[in-house]
Amino acid sequence: MMVSFYAMNLRRTLDKDDCAYIGENALSHLIEGFSCPSNPEVEHFLKHSSIEFTKKNQSITYLVFCNTAHKDILVGYYTLAIKPISVRASSISRTMERKLARVSTLNPDDGTYTAAAYLITYTAAAYLIAQIGKNFALPKSNRIKGVELLDLANRRIARTQYDFGGVVEFLECEDNPFLLDFYAENGFKAFDRRVTKSTDEEKPHELVQMLRFI
Ligand SMILES: CC(C)(COP(=O)(O)OP(=O)(O)OC[C@H]1O[C@@H](n2cnc3c(N)ncnc32)[C@H](O)[C@@H]1OP(=O)(O)O)[C@@H](O)C(=O)NCCC(=O)NCCS
Repeated sequence: MMVSFYAMNLRRTLDKDDCAYIGENALSHLIEGFSCPSNPEVEHFLKHSSIEFTKKNQSITYLVFCNTAHKDILVGYYTLAIKPISVRASSISRTMERKLARVSTLNPDDGTYTAAAYLITYTAAAYLIAQIGKNFALPKSNRIKGVELLDLANRRIARTQYDFGGVVEFLECEDNPFLLDFYAENGFKAFDRRVTKSTDEEKPHELVQMLRFI
């Protein structure tokens, strides 16, 4: 049987004038049923931060549903934001460098462009896939595939790119072979690493930063 998936901006469920309005209590109840044991941070973000972050425009969460005859089932979500990235010229190809240069500021910006390539850094606004995860509470046969979820996020970014431009999207993921392969197979390339800040919940740890030209 053909199943169809669709993504909905979480804002719509909180907007009384929108036909998708369900209100904050019903929304919290809906996302309570989301489970992501292989990445607790992804589950925690949806349950404890996604609504506030969306309201404050820090990042926008999209709930992904499977459309069935009886009801729509929450199969996953992704969260998008616009953030600056800094990319060392030495970590990307010349073709990528040319694309990035069109939308970047260059460091050093004092005219010393003859500096060794590894010193040159491009800083640009980019689309960030801040979170992405599928709902593991569903039976395996009803789960969305990772590529389908990523495709929905990429299509949303492409629509924003159509309106506002931009040439690059990026994400930050744990240094684990499954995730690195998943993103590499879907066109992302590692370009740097970043150590997270210490929080009450987590010790600092290293994330791999990956980008994709769009
Ligand atoms: C990343 C993701 C979208 C890819 O989906 P997919 O290609 O359909 O792959 P699957 O979900 O079938 O996962 C394949 C295997 O990798 C495991 N896996 C999933 N996320 C993992 C993670 N973050 N770290 C390690 N292993 C992971 C799964 O448990 C599964 O193991 P199994 O085959 O033994 O059951 C999906 O696995 C997911 O939502 N993961 C949890 C959230 C997450 O890590 N998001 C990325 C944040 S950067």
